[in-house]
Amino acid sequence: MITIDIDKETCIKCSKCVKVCPAHILTQEDPKAEIGLRNVQTCIACGHCVAVCPTDSVIHSEFPAQKVHVLNREILPTPEQVMELCRARRSNRAFLSSPVPEEYLQQIVEAGHLAPTASNGQEVSFTLVTKPELLKQIADITINTFEKTVKKITNPFINPFINLIVPGAKEAVPTLSAVIAKHRGGADAILRGAKAVLFIHTPISSNFGRQDANLAYQNASLMAESLGVSQFYTGYVCIAVDMDKKRKLAKLLNIEGTIHAGMALSMPAFKFPKYIDRKDLDLTIF
Ligand SMILES: Cc1cc2nc3c(=O)[nH]c(=O)nc-3n(C[C@H](O)[C@H](O)[C@H](O)COP(=O)(O)O)c2cc1C
Repeated sequence: MITIDIDKETCIKCSKCVKVCPAHILTQEDPKAEIGLRNVQTCIACGHCVAVCPTDSVIHSEFPAQKVHVLNREILPTPEQVMELCRARRSNRAFLSSPVPEEYLQQIVEAGHLAPTASNGQEVSFTLVTKPELLKQIADITINTFEKTVKKITNPFINPFINLIVPGAKEAVPTLSAVIAKHRGGADAILRGAKAVLFIHTPISSNFGRQDANLAYQNASLMAESLGVSQFYTGYVCIAVDMDKKRKLAKLLNIEGTIHAGMALSMPAFKFPKYIDRKDLDLTIF
C-alpha cells in the first residue's frame, strides 16, 4: 500500500507538488498553508511530487532516497541537436556481420524503459533476442504465417467474402507473396540479417499496451541512432503476430502478453551522410 507523508519541518509550502500531482492527492487550502493529503489510494506512483520538491519533503513509500536522482540539465541536448537526431534516425538495413555490443543493447532497452505509459502503468516488458537460431525461427514463423494467410485468402470458397471479414485482405496478397518469394529465394526478407531483435510487449489486459510499447520503441530507436546502431521496425513480424491465433512467436520466446512492436538491431555497414525531406508537413492549426 502506498503511503505519502509531508515533512512539515522542511516543507517550504511552495505548492509545486500540489500543482504537478495528476491525481490531485496533494492539497493546499491557501498559498502559505501546509500541504495536505487526500485519497492517497488513488496515487499512480508517477513520482512527480518527489521529483519536483526542492527540499525533499515529500516522503513517498515508492520512492526512497536511493530512487531519487538529481537531473543534470546542463547535458540535455539542444533543440538543434534533438532535431538533427530526428533527421539522422533512419531505418538503415545495410548491416555489418559483427554483433551489437552488449552495453549498447542495454542502453537501448533502458531508453525504451524510460518512456511514459498510460496512467503510469509501467507494464511494458522487453525481450531481446541475439541467438542466431532464434532469429532464424522468428523469420521462419513470420513467413509460415504469411503463407498460411495467403492460402486462406486465395481459397476460392473464402475469397469472395474475405474482404468483408478482414477489410483489405485481398489487397495484401501481392505484398505478402513477394516477401514470401524473396525469403524462400534465400534472402532474409524479414530481419535482413540483423544480429538482434528487441520485442516490446505488455500484459494482454493492458488498455494502452500498443501505445505504451510504441512510445518505448521510439525512445529506444533514438538511443540506437545516437549510439550509432542501426534499427528498423519489424513490421512484418508484427503483422504475422497479429495474424497468428496460435501465438507461435510468443510461445517460442515465452512471452505471455501481447507483442506490439519489434526492433531489428545491427551495426551499420555505413551511415547516411544526408537526410531528405519528408512529404510536405500536413498541419492544421486552430
Ligand atoms: C510500423 C512500421 C513498420 C515497419 N515495418 C518494416 C519492416 O517490416 N521491414 C523493414 O525493413 N522496414 C520496416 N519499417 C521501416 C519503414 O519502411 C521506414 O520507417 C520508412 O521507409 C521510412 O524510413 P526511415 O525509417 O529511414 O525514416 C517499418 C516502419 C514502421 C513505422
